[in-house]
Amino acid sequence: MADSKMHILVCGGTGCRASQSEQIVGDLKAELENRNLENDVKVITPGCFGFC
Ligand code: FES
Repeated sequence: MADSKMHILVCGGTGCRASQSEQIVGDLKAELENRNLENDVKVITPGCFGFC
């Protein structure tokens, strides 16, 4: 992770997982791999941001 140029944060809290955030994470990771950006951009799933 330290070598990454950018991080994308997608909530991994219970409320957002119930709203398909894991699907978003999977789609983002797949697209980053398609574009050979998986080493530059990491998708992080922190806990609840408190927006829900
Ligand atoms: S679970 Fe995502 S903001 Fe609360």
